[in-house]
Amino acid sequence: MDNMKRKLREDFSRTFGSKDNTRVFFAPGRVNLIGEHTDYVGGHVFPCALNFGTYGIVRKRSDRTVRMFSANMDEKGIIEFSLDEVIFDESHDWVNYPKGVIKEFLSLGHPLSGMDIYVYGDIPNGAGLSSSASLELLMGVIIESLFEIDIDRIELCKMSQRAENNFVGVNCGIMDQFAIGMGKTDCAILLDCDTLNYEYVPLVLKGLSIIITNTNKRRGLADSKYNERREETDKALAILQRKFDIASLGELSLVDFESSKDLFVDDVIYKRSRHSVSENERTLKAVESLMKGDLKLFGSYMNASHASLRDDYEVTCKELDTLVMLAEPFSVGVRMTGAGFGGCIVALVEDSKVEEFKKVVGLEYEKAIGYKPTFYVASIGDGAREI
Ligand code: GLA
Repeated sequence: MDNMKRKLREDFSRTFGSKDNTRVFFAPGRVNLIGEHTDYVGGHVFPCALNFGTYGIVRKRSDRTVRMFSANMDEKGIIEFSLDEVIFDESHDWVNYPKGVIKEFLSLGHPLSGMDIYVYGDIPNGAGLSSSASLELLMGVIIESLFEIDIDRIELCKMSQRAENNFVGVNCGIMDQFAIGMGKTDCAILLDCDTLNYEYVPLVLKGLSIIITNTNKRRGLADSKYNERREETDKALAILQRKFDIASLGELSLVDFESSKDLFVDDVIYKRSRHSVSENERTLKAVESLMKGDLKLFGSYMNASHASLRDDYEVTCKELDTLVMLAEPFSVGVRMTGAGFGGCIVALVEDSKVEEFKKVVGLEYEKAIGYKPTFYVASIGDGAREI
């Protein structure tokens, strides 16, 4: 960590003139173990914060100018805007995420000053490990600390979600921001996205590693079918509300849902909501099995989650399905993670099989798809903070 801080100070100094009075912050990425596309339907999710993510080194300015530079997007150079004109600007690219968070603070009346911020992420962009929410929470903890604003952590997560919903225009749920804001070392978070009640569940994996494999197929959520899925589940809710007194799909049991097939004329809407309801139940059962130490059962729920995302929710793709198929023989459980359409899979693999997993899955994937995947052995870390 000290080496990283030293390097960031040097990089900051090269970009912004000197390293005096700088402070360093970190926000992790996240991986979701199960409970996919259930957050925005009021269901449960089970994510955890990773030990890689986004670093930010910052210094306050005395004027109202914000200057930002990302080592991952150095071709974009320094992007600059004024606190008096915080508006979405396509050409500002990644800066729109932190900008949205700044806007949230300003609209609550917090007096901010300008800042110089240098950002470096060791989390791949567009890989479904939530580089965007990581940037949002990074900005959140920077502002909270620099301007000594006393803000509840869950409120900060909600502000970051609002920034993404209203400023960037992706109708995401709360999962990513919550996992990144609230993460805890070696724990996953069982979160009820309706009430925001949550519980830290220790990840006792008994000789298993969490292997994340990136398809290296990039996608951005703004141009994916993410918002379309949200609309489809909204339609399903309206249909089911004719029969049930529910405010969200997360309140419905699978038994009640399955007794209501005749309400649906559109099979697509039926399938979408079958995923929402079944995934929510699966998540609860999976966490229960993990708490009892039954990792095999937990893994089987992961496999079932992938099948449902592939067949009912249709958010997988050839690359994700190929990886999952290749990973299955080596894994206790494996599924796509994140929004889908590309991005990563997550697998639970016996420690002794990790090397073989990487070798075989790597080779066979490249044969089938034409380029290599990337592997990460995940460690579960803490949420966003100053370092
Ligand atoms: C993205 C969104 C989350 C969640 C997942 C799917 O990561 O940002 O809110 O909906 O997709 O589970």
